[in-house]
Amino acid sequence: MAILLQRPHAAVTCVLLFCVAGGLSMPDPRHREALIQLEASMQTGGQVVLTDAEQRLDTLLFQMKQEEIVRADFPPAMHFFKARDLIRTSPIFSLLQKMPKGGALHVHDFAMVDVEWLVKNVTYRPHCYMCFTDNRSIRFIFSSRWPKALPRCSPWTLLEHLRAEVVNTTDLDNSIMGNMTLFTDQDPETVYPSQDVIWDTFEQAFQALWGLVTYAPVFRDYYYQGLTQFYMDNVMYLELRALLPQIYELNGSTHDTAWTLKTYQEVTRQFTADHPDFFGARIIFTIHRGVNASVMARVVEEAMKLQRDFPDVMAGFDLVGREDRGRPLWYFRDALSLPVERGVTLPFFFHAGETDLEGTEVDQNLLDALLLNTSRIGHGFALPRHPVAKALSRKRGVALEVCPISNQVLKLVNDLRNHPAAALMAENHPLVISSDDPAMFGASGLSYDFYEAFVGFGGISSHLGSLKELAINSIRYSSLTPKQKERALALWQRRWDKFVSENAF
Ligand SMILES: *[C@@H]1O[C@H](CO)[C@@H](O)[C@H](O)[C@H]1NC(C)=O
Ligand SMILES: *[C@@H]1O[C@H](CO)[C@@H](O)[C@H](O)[C@H]1NC(C)=O
Ligand SMILES: *[C@@H]1O[C@H](CO)[C@@H](O)[C@H](O)[C@H]1NC(C)=O
Ligand SMILES: *[C@@H]1O[C@H](CO)[C@@H](O)[C@H](O)[C@H]1NC(C)=O
Ligand SMILES: *[C@@H]1O[C@H](CO)[C@@H](O)[C@H](O)[C@H]1NC(C)=O
Ligand SMILES: *[C@@H]1O[C@H](CO)[C@@H](O)[C@H](O)[C@H]1NC(C)=O
Ligand SMILES: *[C@@H]1O[C@H](CO)[C@@H](O)[C@H](O)[C@H]1NC(C)=O
Ligand SMILES: [Zn+2]
Repeated sequence: MAILLQRPHAAVTCVLLFCVAGGLSMPDPRHREALIQLEASMQTGGQVVLTDAEQRLDTLLFQMKQEEIVRADFPPAMHFFKARDLIRTSPIFSLLQKMPKGGALHVHDFAMVDVEWLVKNVTYRPHCYMCFTDNRSIRFIFSSRWPKALPRCSPWTLLEHLRAEVVNTTDLDNSIMGNMTLFTDQDPETVYPSQDVIWDTFEQAFQALWGLVTYAPVFRDYYYQGLTQFYMDNVMYLELRALLPQIYELNGSTHDTAWTLKTYQEVTRQFTADHPDFFGARIIFTIHRGVNASVMARVVEEAMKLQRDFPDVMAGFDLVGREDRGRPLWYFRDALSLPVERGVTLPFFFHAGETDLEGTEVDQNLLDALLLNTSRIGHGFALPRHPVAKALSRKRGVALEVCPISNQVLKLVNDLRNHPAAALMAENHPLVISSDDPAMFGASGLSYDFYEAFVGFGGISSHLGSLKELAINSIRYSSLTPKQKERALALWQRRWDKFVSENAF
């Protein structure tokens, strides 16, 4: 009743119940509406003005989403491995597949192409050898001569011979496939009970496909095939995080890093010539964060040289591998400060905050990435827990590359409605949606992640304007020059208008 005493004038018109419940009178519905509108306008796409056709498409999308959200088996609430088939039947998903999504800014070199292609196409090529490791994984090599045995691996067998011997080659092919992806038909919670288990399997899977994809002819075809899969998914531009490993020939000779980067450039040119409505791709050179400071210093030197020699194709530099196990950015501060100390340009695109270890050294990566002037942040899953880093990221327009399926599969979040990007999208924090390692997760391209973002943490409030802004963000926050961005945006806009006119009824 204290409230009555303080503001007696209001009590005159209100019944006791209302006063106790919430204030002095029933909230004004117009005021309420204004607040709802205010909040809606703050979200990603909240300021986007839709054309008539876009509004019709948006209405359609809204209906679809309302139907999807009441489903008992709501895909974003489930593990992606179980949800994938459901998602494929979703009308929203088929619309998202057709939608021009702009660029994919966070994708890794050897998880672009579905593993079925690797098995059905690559392992059937001649001179392919395989061995079995002592912990039930496999390794490959192409060689004109019988290759020297690897430690902790059985003697090499020519795959052609093995296939002739086994009773059922389909079973063999499936087991090869199973070694190169995390995707499984079994219960993912049982197969991967912890982050440690799934990260170990993850690194093993890369080892398994390594000998295939670093063989020069396959390396080219793999990348071309990767571009094809993203292009087919209506992605027009790619920024690829690439390890630029030594690529080998059949006779065992190897190529250097510059050759690998040049090959990416050539294949990209070829692909763009074959598909004029594809804008292109740029490379972010990456190194595993398990290395020590002296190796890092050497690699940063190399990166600066590549950046100077290949300014068109080289976008910058990043560290990969599990943050929780690798060394924090701060450990590498000397090496990572070399470019700025020498007045040399080397943009950074650091993975940071892909962790739930609040308060640890690793958890400081977000702030350190910003202190090192990162251009974007890979994942930034932990960002909402760091108000200072969050404010800096917003102020400087350092966008997060949000990869929903990756975060779920690697066990940072179960139900994608609870992804931290929900709060970030609600306030239009600079971010893009990407797919990280689609082939590892049994996904492909970008549409599955767009689905999880739009239907999952976007909730019922995200709309066509949100999708439009996310696509535009992928160009806005790319490493392209302002002029290139203008051209890319114009190309995207033409495709977008076509998409809207073909799907709005
Ligand atoms: C394998 O891929 C290459 C390059 O994409 C293609 O030219 C070839 O026809 C494919 N082979 C098979 C057997 O699918
Ligand atoms: C399996 O063996 C490889 C070496 O052959 C090793 O690097 C890897 O850590 C092992 N993985 C597990 C899960 O034991
Ligand atoms: C081989 O195994 C697959 C899957 O286990 C099965 O569907 C197929 O019928 C088998 N083929 C033969 C020839 O036995
Ligand atoms: C990997 O390949 C080996 C050998 O074929 C097989 O025993 C094992 O089950 C495979 N692992 C997976 C996860 O499929
Ligand atoms: C090995 O093969 C590559 C590519 O076919 C060729 O350019 C190179 O000269 C060969 N090297 C040797 C030592 O035969
Ligand atoms: C750093 O790692 C490299 C390669 O593993 C090794 O040769 C070198 O001795 C290491 N340096 C230090 C200081 O530990
Ligand atoms: C980051 O940018 C600030 C401000 O421009 C500059 O003072 C600092 O040296 C830069 N640091 C690095 C590591 O690039
Ligand atoms: Zn990544």
